[in-house]
Amino acid sequence: MSLKDKEKWNNKYESGEYITGKEPSAWLQANAHLLAKSGKALDIAGGEGRNSVFAASKGYEVTCLDIAENGLRKAQALAQEKNAKITTVLADLDSKSLKTNEYDLVLCFNFLDRSLFSGIRQTLKSGGLLFYETFTLDYLKYSNFKKEWVLEANELLQEFSDFRILRYQEVDENSKAFASMVAQKP
Ligand SMILES: C[S@@+](CC[C@H](N)C(=O)[O-])C[C@H]1O[C@@H](n2cnc3c(N)ncnc32)[C@H](O)[C@@H]1O
Repeated sequence: MSLKDKEKWNNKYESGEYITGKEPSAWLQANAHLLAKSGKALDIAGGEGRNSVFAASKGYEVTCLDIAENGLRKAQALAQEKNAKITTVLADLDSKSLKTNEYDLVLCFNFLDRSLFSGIRQTLKSGGLLFYETFTLDYLKYSNFKKEWVLEANELLQEFSDFRILRYQEVDENSKAFASMVAQKP
């Protein structure tokens, strides 16, 4: 499964073009005022690094983790272009366990692996922030995504209900449907 994902994403990232763009996710940008000015950050399945580089520019020591080396190569190139410093880690999240109490910030955009939820809560320090945004059930109307790749209604809210929810939205507009959350570990 992961080997197929690795190949799929390496192929997608092969060209010089940044398929997810060089600018951070609108949700991260819009809520950047909630970020601390320093600390350790983990960008889960960070791809070509747009969000990692943004977090680094805000003062975080960022690790961008992904299974696709072509994505991470572009993430480093983007960091260089924007005069930021990030660490890239080539790893398969199916088998990689996240260190306990390690990060002040976890970013997870456009990626869903429910078996990672417990790792995310463990790897965040108390007071740490989780920015999570990915597709919801409504997105099945517009794509050939499988049901297991998308969030149920309110799923992030329920999963992280013991966290302090600082921001939350569910959007179904212009053929896009996703949930976005900023939550703080107690
Ligand atoms: C839709 S992209 C999102 C990239 C980035 N988060 C963003 O929003 O720009 C999904 C990413 O998940 C990564 N990925 C898929 N399966 C993975 C796995 N098992 N372990 C680590 N990364 C994985 C892919 O390589 C790809 O970069």
